[in-house]
Amino acid sequence: MVHKKESESEPRFYGLTRTASAVLTHLISFSFTVFITLLSRPGTSWFSWHPFLMTLAFGFLMTEAILVFSPHGSFIKKLSHKTKGRVHWILQCLCVFCAVLGLAAIFYNKHLNGKAHFTTGHGVLGLLTVCVVAAQSLAAAPLIYHSLAKGWSLAKLKRYHAASGLITYLLGSCSLLLGLCSAWFTESVGEYTWYLSALCPALGTLIIMNQVSSAYIAKKRLQS
Ligand code: HEM
Repeated sequence: MVHKKESESEPRFYGLTRTASAVLTHLISFSFTVFITLLSRPGTSWFSWHPFLMTLAFGFLMTEAILVFSPHGSFIKKLSHKTKGRVHWILQCLCVFCAVLGLAAIFYNKHLNGKAHFTTGHGVLGLLTVCVVAAQSLAAAPLIYHSLAKGWSLAKLKRYHAASGLITYLLGSCSLLLGLCSAWFTESVGEYTWYLSALCPALGTLIIMNQVSSAYIAKKRLQS
């Protein structure tokens, strides 16, 4: 009797934990983006567009694009997988659009100030991140137009897309974190605010990685 109760409460407990993690990720993606927007005040200078657009791209749009598939925290949980896929690629296209604009803004700002390009770890990793997210989105085209990848099963394409997507997300979070280490940000906020801000991409990444890997482990278990 006791055993039965325990085994019943366990999945429920895990379900609640996963729901709480997904809700936390929504809160983080929204509040972190709002905070950077208020701090950078987009439109006040060419530079101001850079932190705003990059946080919108990677902190908000890419995070929400993945959370669409969360079985516990998706806003469109009840809709079909096909619809979720459509919302996912629209958010991902917006992410690439904002990332390219964010890169153009900082590039032009440096050009105006006669500064050298891609001289910091953040600059180099950031450039790589924008290239990878653009390539990842292009490489996802066969998931919609399957005829583009003859000889590849849809299941295999989806597996590769999820794995490379996780790497892209990780790159985005590392670039955001390095952006938070920039002189502009460290001089704009106090110590506690800095740690709290750095916690946002770090925690978001852990939860997102857990969501995607759990989904694929569960699928593998069903197949074997
Ligand atoms: C994933 C998000 C981000 C990416 C991909 C990214 C990308 C880049 C790139 C490529 C550069 C160099 C441009 C050049 O040298 O011409 C740069 C510079 C810069 N970024 Fe970001 N950025 C991101 C987020 C942020 C955030 C959130 C901040 C501020 C909180 C920030 C602050 C800066 C600053 C101050 C510079 C100029 C100094 C430097 O080159 O390191 N970035 N970023």
